[in-house]
Parts: sequence; C-alpha cells; structure tokens
Amino acid sequence: MPLLPMSVLLNKANAEGYAVGAFNTNNMEITQAIIEGAVAERAPVIIQCSEGAMKYAGVDTVVAMVKALAENVDIPVALHLDHGKEFDNIIKCIRAGFTSVMIDASHLPLEENIAMTKKVVEIAHAAGVSVEAELGRIAGVEDNVSTSERDAMLTDPGEAERFVSETGVDALAIAIGTAHGPRKFKGEPKLEMDLIREIKSRVNIPLVMHGASAVPKEVIDKAVRYGAEIEGASGVPDEAVSQAVANGINKVNIDTDMRLAMIAAMREVLHNNPKATDPRKVLGPAKDAIVEIVRHKISILGSGAKA
Ligand code: G3H
Ligand code: 13P
Ligand code: ZN
Repeated sequence: MPLLPMSVLLNKANAEGYAVGAFNTNNMEITQAIIEGAVAERAPVIIQCSEGAMKYAGVDTVVAMVKALAENVDIPVALHLDHGKEFDNIIKCIRAGFTSVMIDASHLPLEENIAMTKKVVEIAHAAGVSVEAELGRIAGVEDNVSTSERDAMLTDPGEAERFVSETGVDALAIAIGTAHGPRKFKGEPKLEMDLIREIKSRVNIPLVMHGASAVPKEVIDKAVRYGAEIEGASGVPDEAVSQAVANGINKVNIDTDMRLAMIAAMREVLHNNPKATDPRKVLGPAKDAIVEIVRHKISILGSGAKA
C-alpha cells in the first residue's frame, strides 16, 4: 500500500479505542522487522525516524526504503518524523515524502510553542501531511529530575485545551511521567493515569505516549550475560501501557526495547560464533528479535487485527 497520512491511522484508533505502535528505525533490518511484525499481527503501524536517524541514514534513503517495503504489504503504514526540532528538517521531510511530522517545541515557552506548531501545521496540512506536537516535557536519559521538577514537567490540561484549539494539530504528545531511554524511574514506575483521562476529556484528539518501552528484564539479562554494561534499567510495565491506552492514548512510541533486543541478540550471536564473518548471520537474528518486540507491543496496544 502507498504510505498513508498518520491521522488516517490515529483517527480510526481514537474512534475505536486502541493505540497504534510507532516504532523508531535507523536502518534496513529495523524497518523490515517493524513491517514484518505488523503484518504478522495484521496491525496498522507508524515507522518513525528521529533527526539523528536521518543524519545517520539520509532522508532520501529512509523514504525510499520505507516506501519500497510498505508498498509490498497490505497494512496501513505511515512514515513520521520523531521529535522534529529544526524547522529546516521538518520541511525537508515533508518535501521528501514523509506522511507525518512531529514539531517538538516543548522546550519553548507556551506562546512560542503554539506559534511554531501553528506554522508547521499550516505548511504540513497544505501538503496532506499530519502533525504531532508536544506539550509538557518528556525527560531524556540524561535528565536527572527531582520529584518537584517531574511534576512541573507534566502537561497542564487547560494549556492542552488551548494548544489544540489554537494550533489545529492532529495528535498531541503529553508528559505523564515517562522518560526516554532505558532508565525511566528511580523507584517504582509512576504514570499519571488521571491526567490522561482529564486531557482526553478536554481535547478528544489522538494522544501520544513517548518513552513507553518496558525495558524487559530478560532482554537486559541476556545483553549483560554477553558483556553489556547497563545499570539502573527500568521501564514502563505492559499493564501500565495498556491502562494508558484504555484512558485515551492512541499512539505509543517504542525505540529503546528494539535497541536492547537488537544489541542482546547481536552480542549473543557474536559470543557463540567467534569465527563468524558474515554480517547477515548477526543482523538476521537481531532482526528476528525486533520482530518479537514489535509483535508483543502490538498485542498490548490492541491494534492487532485492525488492518
Ligand atoms: O525519542 C528518542 C528516540 O529514541 C530517538 O533517539 O535521537 O537517538 O535516534 P535518537
Ligand atoms: P523509549 O525510549 O521508551 O523507547 O521511547 C521512544 C520515544 O518516545 C521516541 O519518541
Ligand atoms: Zn519521544
């Protein structure tokens, strides 16, 4: 199928009460695994690329690769820019064939976030491209936030209502206590479920959950068994993701779990086959490990059999 605007996938998910998985890619094997997993589950899927991924792989290469793989399957696929911060990059992606872009101006004061988002919406919508924006702050791996700082970063429901009505965005990423990367919580995982419900009751557009990786213990253990050094690992339990979806989340972003599964599989193969010289013997099992992650995520999001 040709690539579809992300709003086509997300509006259906919003109407029917499930979430679409949005998986980050950086190369061919990851992209193949995302599509293979989604096809196996008969699920609509979003393939997303960060600005860093684009720098690594090249915008035109990413578009050509995703289009070629999507055109050979019969499930809905959207290609989305993840955390677009540079205006020029956003325009480049729209021109190159992305069907959705994220403008992440969440680090700016509210008025500037609104103005910047509005500008991107005008341009993107004229080209039939969907837009996701972010309100509140989703912490990064490197951030070491205190509890009061965490609370200050959460999305304010009143601001969300104003933001959506003034910008016309198709989807809104909200800060509900998650963080990017493999170290999300210092103690017990804590997500603001009531806040999701409150925001959803005010805006009723597709809501996006970033930092949703589970950081599975078995994957960490395997990576460590074969030489990885990963300290303080903690993720979002599957039940919490399902509950967030039940409360109004319609797009769930996953990158870290695929990275960890890929690294663990590569380490295992290299450890067990010291004489291996064929990269396909390493990247093949790595791809298979990602397929498993994608299929499992889809099963907890409720998007299986929706394609
Ligand atoms: O939100 C962040 C994603 O995991 C992408 O990470 O910028 O290292 O590609 P990256
Ligand atoms: P994770 O780091 O939890 O996989 O989150 C990825 C993400 O939010 C990409 O935008
Ligand atoms: Zn993110």
